[in-house]
Order: sequence, then C-alpha cells, then structure tokens
Amino acid sequence: MRTNIVHIGATELNYEIRKIVDVAHEIARMSGQPIQWENIGDPIQKGESLPLWMKEIVASHAMKDETYGYSPTKGLLETREFLAKRRNSQGNVKIDANDILFFNGLGDAVSKVYGFLRREARVIGPSPAYPTHSSAEAAHSGYPPITYRLDPARGWMPDLEELRNKVKYNESIAGIMIINPDNPTGAVFPREIIEEMVQIAREYKLFLVADEIYINMVYNGKECTPISEVVEEVPAIALKGISKEFPWPGGRCGWMEVYNHHKDPMFELYIQSILNAKMLEVSSTTLPQAVIPEVMSNPEYINWQKERNSFFEKRSQMIGKIFSDCPGVIVNPPDGAFYVSVVFDAPLGENMHLKMPGADIKSYIDKLCPPGVEPDRKFVYHLLGSRNICVVPLSSFVTDLRGFRCTLLEKDDQKFEETYRTIAEAIQEFLKS
Ligand SMILES: Cc1ncc(COP(=O)(O)O)c(C=O)c1O
Repeated sequence: MRTNIVHIGATELNYEIRKIVDVAHEIARMSGQPIQWENIGDPIQKGESLPLWMKEIVASHAMKDETYGYSPTKGLLETREFLAKRRNSQGNVKIDANDILFFNGLGDAVSKVYGFLRREARVIGPSPAYPTHSSAEAAHSGYPPITYRLDPARGWMPDLEELRNKVKYNESIAGIMIINPDNPTGAVFPREIIEEMVQIAREYKLFLVADEIYINMVYNGKECTPISEVVEEVPAIALKGISKEFPWPGGRCGWMEVYNHHKDPMFELYIQSILNAKMLEVSSTTLPQAVIPEVMSNPEYINWQKERNSFFEKRSQMIGKIFSDCPGVIVNPPDGAFYVSVVFDAPLGENMHLKMPGADIKSYIDKLCPPGVEPDRKFVYHLLGSRNICVVPLSSFVTDLRGFRCTLLEKDDQKFEETYRTIAEAIQEFLKS
C-alpha cells in the first residue's frame, strides 16, 4: 500500500468470546459430539424463550406499518418519554426524552462513546473488562486499555485506591467506566462503591460511563444502585438495553441516558457529536423501541423478572456448592448478570495439560497451544478438546488473572450440574498433571 491504511488501534480489537466458536465447531466435527456452549451471553441460544404475552406484544406491533419505517434519530418519542418518566420515578437525577438516545444495541453505543472521544482523552475501566468496552476504548486511543483492578479475593470489589491514584497521576484520564452488575464477574457493586467513584469523578472533573445493561438482573438479596441515584451534578452516561432483559439480543436495541450534560459545555459538545454521528446513520431499529413501553408496563413484567432472577439465584448457589470443594481456584458465586469467572490461584506450569480423547484432537489442540501460550488459554482449549465444553479464557478480558468465564444460562438442571462438576474435575486434573 502507498499509504498505511491500518487504523492506529487495529491491534486492540479482540473478541475471544466469538473467536473460540470456530475452534469449538472443529472439535465437534472431529469428536462427533456436541459442544456444551458456555462462552456467550445469549439466553436465546441457550434455549430461553420469551413469554407468550411478550411475543404477542411484539407481534401486534409487527402488524403496524409504521414499525417498518425509520424512527427519529434519537429514537421514538413515545418510548423515550416513557423511559424518562420511569427514570424520574426511580433516580434522583431528572431527565426528559431529549436526554435519551437509542442505538442498534449497546455494541453500537459503546463504539460511539469511545469513537467520538478526543484521541488523547482516556476512559479508565475495570480489569477484568468486558472486551467490547476495553477494545473500543483502546482502539480509539491506539494504546492498551487503562484499568483499575477488580479483586477476586474481595468478592470482585474494585480497588478504589488504585483507581484514585491512576486518576490523580494520569491527566489524560477523562472518564471512569463501570459495569454494574458486572460482566465477566457477576459482581454487584454496593452503593458506597458507586458513591466513591462518583466522588473521584467529581474531584478530578471526569465524566462517568455506567453500563447498566444487567441492572434488573440481581439476586441473592443484593440491590444494585443505578448511577442516576448517586450521580448528583456529575456528568454521566448510563447505558441500558433489552438484549439481556427481555431477552432480545437479536433486536439490536439499547439506549443511552445522559445526565447533567447541560452543566458542562465540553461534555455537552461531546454528547452532541455522538448524536450527530447517529444522525449520519439516520436512526436505530424501530420495532424493538416500539414495544418497550407496553412490555415494561405490562402487569406480568415484574413477576416474570423476579422468576427469572430466582432461576439465576439457583444457578449461582449451585456454583457455590460445586466449587466449595475445588482447591486451586477462587470462585465468587455471582449476585447479578449471568456470568461466573473462575480464577486460578494455584501456580500454573507450562506442562499442565488434560488428556485428549484421540491423536487427531490432541494434534489440533497442541497446534493451538504453542510454547508460551497463556496457561488459561491452554486450559480452555484443553477443556474443549477433552470434554467438549466451551468457555472463554480470562486473559482475553484485559487482566493478569488467569482463569475463565462461563455462564449460568443452561436451562437443564442436570446438564448444568454435570457441566460444572466436569469443569471442577478438569481443573483438578490440569493442576495435578
Ligand atoms: C456489559 C455489556 N454491555 C454491552 C453488551 C452489548 O449488548 P448489546 O446486545 O445491546 O449490543 C453486552 C453483551 O454481552 C454486555 O455484557
């Protein structure tokens, strides 16, 4: 090429959650056995079905001609008014329909949030981190992500001292990102932690990005504090969506609520640039936006959510039981979302391995694990090759911790228990090999 056509952040884009799928398909072909998918957070793929009343609402809207047209750039006014009213009845920050902007899923919102930041301005995020955020942030700057640690030994609570110090000594940090409830850890951060983060943002004149896509998926008696309850005058963006909550990930529908943008001219200009960028794309998908008010105000909605959360609570407790007797790893049963991260706390050696069922699979997996491969990646490939279970290595979530992430989504109790007992047994075989 006459001119370098590669974007400055091209090497920062990585989404192992989907990359591993090709390897898994190859293992399924070679072994002739199905894969137990524990890699991706798609409840539909894992056999969840939307309740009939919700499908009927979607179907009735699908019969209306107007749902086939473009929506306004910010999103349907009626839906934004509904969401603003709902927010105002819960949070202490008051918003109106103009403070809400729809996207084609939060993936689209995330790429705009970082893509339209000035290149030198950085957003510090959690480690481990959901890669859609960390990769988009790093790609916009051309440098690796800047992170604060979530500590597995303290129930995945953030290291606020590290956060404060990094913010204090790195002037390029303009924002703090938090995912609450968190992916990949399943942690729900207590109110005091969110308040302290807001305080750091206030002191150093930063803005906040709170990814709250799992905000209504909380259990084990925990409560999750939306940023709107504690943000007061600090500029902030809350990201919400229906991919996990309805769950309708294929609807590609999420939205941004902006708090306090009129209080800071620079933040206001930044938000305006995101809106202008969305205008160039015309609008986001109309049908899922159209159904939101009717679904969320349906009398069945709250009970149905409670039932769903008690399913995840049961899964979380099963995880607690299975891993209570599994030396060599730290496992915090999740309190929110539907992921669990297993962290190795025993030292991992180069020669650790799992026995493969045949020479062809062994040779295929060995090629994927050359000398020097991350040990958790090796464990994940060996688990796939030896037991047809597909999880994601923690090292692909921007962290020095070694482990893997899996999900609570399996609907069948027996299959769930069997999968996790097999994983626990594979951990012991790997550590003792
Ligand atoms: C924390 C978090 N944010 C955003 C997304 C993306 O959601 P969407 O389907 O709305 O693009 C996900 C998907 O897994 C997620 O876990």
